[in-house]
Amino acid sequence: MKIETIAIHAGNKVDGSSKAVIQPIVLSTTFERGEDGGFPGGHIYSRSSNPNRALLENVIGKLEGGADAAAFSSGNAAGMSVFQSLAPGTHIICPDDMYHGLRNQLKNLFAGILTFDFIDVNDGDVLQQHIRPETGVIWVETPSNPLLKITDIKQVVSIAKAKGIKVVVDNTFATPICQQPLTLGADLVMHSTTKYFGGHSDLMGGALITAEKNDWWAKIRQVQEMGGAIPSPTDCFWLVRSIKTLPYRVKGHVHNAQLLAEFLEQHPRVEQVLYPGLPSHPQHQIAKDQMLAYGGMLSFIVKGDRDDTHNIINKLNIFTKATSLGGVESLIEHRATVEGPDTKTPFNLLRVSVGLEHIDDLIEDLSQALED
Ligand SMILES: Cc1ncc(COP(=O)(O)O)c(C=O)c1O
Repeated sequence: MKIETIAIHAGNKVDGSSKAVIQPIVLSTTFERGEDGGFPGGHIYSRSSNPNRALLENVIGKLEGGADAAAFSSGNAAGMSVFQSLAPGTHIICPDDMYHGLRNQLKNLFAGILTFDFIDVNDGDVLQQHIRPETGVIWVETPSNPLLKITDIKQVVSIAKAKGIKVVVDNTFATPICQQPLTLGADLVMHSTTKYFGGHSDLMGGALITAEKNDWWAKIRQVQEMGGAIPSPTDCFWLVRSIKTLPYRVKGHVHNAQLLAEFLEQHPRVEQVLYPGLPSHPQHQIAKDQMLAYGGMLSFIVKGDRDDTHNIINKLNIFTKATSLGGVESLIEHRATVEGPDTKTPFNLLRVSVGLEHIDDLIEDLSQALED
């Protein structure tokens, strides 16, 4: 089946008893046993599994082409479950431009339990130099947040596989519509489903998708069940509903992002546009080879100082000044402010989550904001 069909059907099933066409929300936390003491409905207790979560996990797993998927209450909870599944002392190699919330999680919550380096994982030599006997995972985020750096997933996989190291890809920016890391050899995919999967900036969620059901995956399932960082049945229901339009929404985001990037690139007040779909992007060729489309996120660097940068966003009418991404509405943010004092993001960088408004309106709004 093609991805548009999977998105609509793999998260839904006609309800057995009521024949409701759309799977109802099952709020019950517990499920009745059969006469033989078993669980004929397939569920025991909602922290372990729930009908709405099972359907959500099914559709997400199929969209990424995985053997199984696990849903969490946020992207950070999904990431944390990976870190919690690793033996103490495991070394993780992380990208230098890693989502700051997960970088801070490692530094603040896992220091002394795991060890980690933040390096340019796209540089094969640098990557090889940082591998240690206790390296268990290479973490990839591509395109990265907020610099839109591209990492060659196949290259990382070939280096990792030779040493028995697992590769995890945070595929939040790309979505399975633009990039399928498991087909490129990754072991695990991570998502903040708060973003494009939810698509309307109104629910939090996260997911992990595995290439194969192995001992590591069993451990991750244990962390999910015993830790309990699971989404509610209602959140699962809304996420399944949103996923039905994911392929078409993402196509719209990609269309608008490409045109907005091209507009910004020729603007005299813009120093640089970071969008993998532009031939000027330093890793455009890698993006072209490994992505199906270039995504809906871009960043641009303004000619000017921090105040000039803030003045631009304060003049915008359609773009909302807010963090996060992947919703139908366009968002813009001064990323260095959000990331805090230890940020390496340039003070004149603006990150844009390009929404689904008409592209002419978006260009017109940015045009007037960029006027001197
Ligand atoms: C690339 C990336 N990964 C993970 C996360 C964390 O997701 P959540 O906010 O759902 O915990 C985010 C959030 O912005 C993100 O942008």
